[in-house]
Amino acid sequence: MSSDIDDRSGLNLVPRPRFARRLKGEVELRSPLTICGPDHPILDRLAEDLAGALGGAVHRCAGEQGCGAGLSFSISPAEPGSYALTIDQEVTVLASDSDGLASAVATLRQLVSGSLFSRSEKHHQVLSLPRLRLVDAPTFAWRGAHLDVARHFFSTNVVCRFMDLLHLHKLNHLHLHLNDDQGWRVEVQGWPKLTEVGAWRSSTSQGRIGELHDNGIAHGGFYTASDIAQLCSYAEGLGITLVPEIDFPGHALSALAAYPEFGNTGERFAVGTQWGISSHVLNMTAEAIEFATSVTSEVAALFPGSPVHIGGDECPTSEWKHHEVAQALMDEHGFREPRALQGLYTTKLARTVAALGRKVLAWDEVLDAEVEPNTIIVAWRHVLLGIRAARAGHDVVMAPMEFTYLDWAQSEDSSEPIAILPPPFATPWQKVYAFEVIPAALEEALHHRILGAQVQLWTEYIPTQDHMDYMAFPRLSAFAEVVWGTQGQQHAFARRLHCHLERLSLLQVKFRPID
Ligand code: ACM
Repeated sequence: MSSDIDDRSGLNLVPRPRFARRLKGEVELRSPLTICGPDHPILDRLAEDLAGALGGAVHRCAGEQGCGAGLSFSISPAEPGSYALTIDQEVTVLASDSDGLASAVATLRQLVSGSLFSRSEKHHQVLSLPRLRLVDAPTFAWRGAHLDVARHFFSTNVVCRFMDLLHLHKLNHLHLHLNDDQGWRVEVQGWPKLTEVGAWRSSTSQGRIGELHDNGIAHGGFYTASDIAQLCSYAEGLGITLVPEIDFPGHALSALAAYPEFGNTGERFAVGTQWGISSHVLNMTAEAIEFATSVTSEVAALFPGSPVHIGGDECPTSEWKHHEVAQALMDEHGFREPRALQGLYTTKLARTVAALGRKVLAWDEVLDAEVEPNTIIVAWRHVLLGIRAARAGHDVVMAPMEFTYLDWAQSEDSSEPIAILPPPFATPWQKVYAFEVIPAALEEALHHRILGAQVQLWTEYIPTQDHMDYMAFPRLSAFAEVVWGTQGQQHAFARRLHCHLERLSLLQVKFRPID
């Protein structure tokens, strides 16, 4: 998978393609231009962006390759996610599927002499591309990023721009963490108080651990159904699969602020203003499990066809020990530990989501109670949990915090901005680049269980787009090469990364400078 031979083409693509040869000269694109290829949202989006960048007309035609268009695309089944790109008299792409098409377009966006995103204000009369031949394919189908829009809410504009940057790096899944103790972020028709009450908190905790203070500033926001439709459509144009997460039965305080009857203590709750894990969780009544199921199904319906993440992490069981319904269920099922109760949520939610024809994901804690075999485990606590899941017959998305949590500081230096954990917890880009998606200890017969990996952006300490940029980049660029499967020697990557960061500068990305 990894290779010591770095890209000698001088193209400085990130992730490095499997094969690239630079040919002499450049090809110029100017309007009017024609893009020939199948009717596909990725090509519609490319045409729009090219028209914006060139400040002139870009037409679409459905003709066969070689019809004389400036850019010709065709799809023909081959290795999943693969594509061949030739830039010569014209630009020709042969892609195996939608994923390959998106990756080919991402390569063009990196190669072109200017910004090829519609939000760029600059028009270029002419865009040039280096002449080349390139053949490329990913190792992993699940190349993802997670974004916590619960701890801090981000507008659809910010999320769409983040998607641009994922696509530029050939990442194809965006996992949206839509609820947590500190906020509920998606409108649910059947449960309106989730956003009326749960989307707003009175204050936010700030400062280093040990010196925390409330800033006294209200924070909130949520996505309407129409916002979600906009995100889905935008994702489609970039070949990105959105993965909504509704996190139950823990991390439920914002839901309990809206519907306290689903709590364990009979008290009224406020949306959380402090970070950390609330001990207030959903109770074990049939009504609460039905509530979780109804909400998750409604949110799933807003994301047609998407895999659905049912959460399941960090659920304290202390309240269940004192709740009569939970205790009765323990007796009824013969459970010895209250942790086993969580399995009643996991299995009900997973069966419901699967019955909708969707893939189901959950955090690795669900392995500690009953879990449906078709649940894809997102292994975050350690790679060992990914191994355990694969051995138990689950597909796995690797997300170990030690390598993929981009809310950790980028060095141990005290000048780093406040991050979720104090030094010595730090993840420099070099450590991300050293991450191996398939753990060495996993037997080869189970390698197919590892669908891929994703980086996580938890946003307790990330309130703005600029700070999101700072925490995400350049580590996300390093990760992109790891999960594409062409990671090689660190020093060679560092050289390419320098050039790639110039690309990100052009796109106004406020990345952390590399040391
Ligand atoms: C997690 O970081 N609690 C999934």
